[in-house]
Amino acid sequence: MVSRVIPVEPFDLVIFGGTGDLARRKILPGLFRRFRAGQMPPDARVIGAARTEMDASAYRDMIRDGILKFGGEESRDSESLEAFLQRLDYVAIDATGEGGWQHLAGIMRPGVVRAFYFSVAPSLFGPLAERLHQHGIADQEARIVVEKPFGRDLESARALNQTLAAHFREEQIYRIDHYLGKETVQNLMAVRFGNVLFEPLWNNHYVDHIQITVAETVGVEGRGGYYDKSGAMRDMVQNHLMQLLCLIAMEPPFRFEAAAVRDEKLKVIHALKPVLAHHIVRGQYDADGDGPSYREEAGNPRSFTESFIAIRAEIANWRWAGVPFYLRTGKKLRARHSEIAVVFKDLPHTIFEGDQARHRNILSIRLQPNEGIDLFVTIKEPGPGGMRLIDRPLDMTFATALGEDGKDVPDAYERLIMDVIRGNQTLFMRGDEVEAAWAWTDPIIAGWERRNDVPKLYDPGSSGPDDALMLLHREGRRWRDIRG
Ligand code: BG6
Repeated sequence: MVSRVIPVEPFDLVIFGGTGDLARRKILPGLFRRFRAGQMPPDARVIGAARTEMDASAYRDMIRDGILKFGGEESRDSESLEAFLQRLDYVAIDATGEGGWQHLAGIMRPGVVRAFYFSVAPSLFGPLAERLHQHGIADQEARIVVEKPFGRDLESARALNQTLAAHFREEQIYRIDHYLGKETVQNLMAVRFGNVLFEPLWNNHYVDHIQITVAETVGVEGRGGYYDKSGAMRDMVQNHLMQLLCLIAMEPPFRFEAAAVRDEKLKVIHALKPVLAHHIVRGQYDADGDGPSYREEAGNPRSFTESFIAIRAEIANWRWAGVPFYLRTGKKLRARHSEIAVVFKDLPHTIFEGDQARHRNILSIRLQPNEGIDLFVTIKEPGPGGMRLIDRPLDMTFATALGEDGKDVPDAYERLIMDVIRGNQTLFMRGDEVEAAWAWTDPIIAGWERRNDVPKLYDPGSSGPDDALMLLHREGRRWRDIRG
């Protein structure tokens, strides 16, 4: 197997919000893993920037703790960990004032890639961007990275895009959706566009329907304040599930590069039909034996926010007209299980006498756990006794299929940060995509607000409210099991 890893140039990466949760849990442990994998060039540097006064050595201590806690097995390699920590620096900065900016300007090196991770509240995007320019810190090639939530509706997303556009060109802006960094999500594109097998079947002549499930076992835990204002629709559907839907449904881009891929994704979002009220099921988890209800966890006894949502979406174009896309996501469900299932149509006619079963080909793309792809096909049950048919998966679990190579699969954040340094925007959302996604989402939310919709309660550890099952049952279909 030939593999070519694209090298990464020397860089100065400044993380605003460098003492925050995301930096300690994801960004820095991720960078450490890339460092260990030999992907970080020798003179790369990461500079934490936040309000708290501390020196570089105190910052290194803080990050060491974070990596030991969240960095997994690798963090036990203390020699590498200490070497990595030496790449870190820290600047105490006042995002809305003048403190610290001269210092930051003074330590940025000429001639290396400059990247700025805005791991802060969106209200600080503008002040940070302004100061980066005022102090000559952001050059023409500088990259900035922003996180979700990217707005909470079309209007606020537009305002954020305008704020960023006032200071940076679109080619400098990297909007992260960490689902696009997942290994399987990219494999989905490899499978679709690297094989001749699937494309002829990838349309409404052969596909009966598509299911996208992102099920979690965790509740809202410490994030109740944020989550209660968002709900599953804003937190998961508008971004992660929409991105998965785009990759499944888009036309083949003419090349695997940012503009071509993003143009095709945008067309899918534009072609989404408005969703009818009876094609939406919202749920909220109840209390169980020892666990709190959603309302208790979110600290809002009157909350009508959904911790589960199921939607029947449709795409109005030639390829997909008439094919339902069933999306569902929720917290405190039976298992952590994310899957995209392409369910093909029934055979037009069966030649096997006495075979009453409905055999359907299903392509199952598993995001987690056990990332991989299964193609369910019908075969003969081995042995005597006549022609009996069974359905079995052709299994391609990546860790098994790729042997040793499968082990060093970078986590979504690691991959995306390295792509920022490489200047590759393919796996990031463009401003117009985010706005189009909100333009589809806004009327759905406005609809249930107008109807004073009350989410259906569901038991923790279940598959969500029964009404979600009905969404498919009444059309003669059923959800795939949520299994760990
Ligand atoms: C985040 C959401 O974007 O994605 C969380 O805000 C959710 O609520 C998380 O738990 C799920 O990500 P993953 O990678 O664990 O599936």
